[in-house]
Amino acid sequence: MTTTQESPTAAGSGASASKSFKATTATADVADTPPERVAAIVTDVLQGVHDAITKHDVTYPEFQAAKAWLMDVGEGGEWPLFMDVFVEHAVEEQVAKSQSGTKGSILGPYYLSDQVKLPSTCTLPRRDDELGTPLVLEGQVRDTSGKPLGGAEVDIWHADSDGYYSGFAPHVPDGNLRGVVVTDEEGRFEISTIQPAPYQIPTDGPTGQLIGAAGWHPWRPAHLHIQVRAGGHRSVTTQLYFAGGDYLDSDVAEATKPELVLDPQDDGTGTRRSSYDFELEPSKG
Ligand code: DHB
Ligand code: FE
Repeated sequence: MTTTQESPTAAGSGASASKSFKATTATADVADTPPERVAAIVTDVLQGVHDAITKHDVTYPEFQAAKAWLMDVGEGGEWPLFMDVFVEHAVEEQVAKSQSGTKGSILGPYYLSDQVKLPSTCTLPRRDDELGTPLVLEGQVRDTSGKPLGGAEVDIWHADSDGYYSGFAPHVPDGNLRGVVVTDEEGRFEISTIQPAPYQIPTDGPTGQLIGAAGWHPWRPAHLHIQVRAGGHRSVTTQLYFAGGDYLDSDVAEATKPELVLDPQDDGTGTRRSSYDFELEPSKG
């Protein structure tokens, strides 16, 4: 063993993300789409591929490279990473057209359910020597008519100051920087944590290889993942970003929205504080 930390590999985080997706996505969440609709959607997807082949005069070696790459994505367990970086934002934006309340954003591959429940004023689990600028996020959960939602759950997870998520990087302890915060009777919460760093798509796997081959950059801006849940209301899955942060205007996952940018201010003690309120619409049906 060397003294350097075991750094996460694309294959390791891909395998964990695949396992977590299969474990947490109930079969009820998977669409039962009628055959005509399957045919219509798949025909258009394939037509898009065929059009690109024609437009760019794609060669046999390029077709074989694409096949080999698709096999690598599957074997490396990277489909959750690839889908959430390159496709999820379009689904989220489409679904959001019929929704009100706080703007959503992509879930991403690193959500883990059943994390520790914490009171409304709390500190997220962290290592004794956790690095990073202290950050406090406070706010209120309300319904879309302004009524406070006491007992709502603010499920929060984020990367550490090196950009790594617990559960997907072997050197970070389980549950680190994750928790389910329960709002007080006025719907309020105050969460102490640390400022996360920007996140880099693993560069040593097929998704990273594609990004490199295309000359793109592999970064997401620093973000907090948050899912807010309250009985009788549609859950909001979103992310909060930081004003002035790197990659805010060039997120590889295209998941930023201007309404979701925090501008934390130093409170004079070296802690950065920010306020954000969430609004949930009543469940439909
Ligand atoms: C990915 C990682 C994230 O942290 C995120 O928020 C979205 C996507 C990814 O690696 O696919
Ligand atoms: Fe993330």
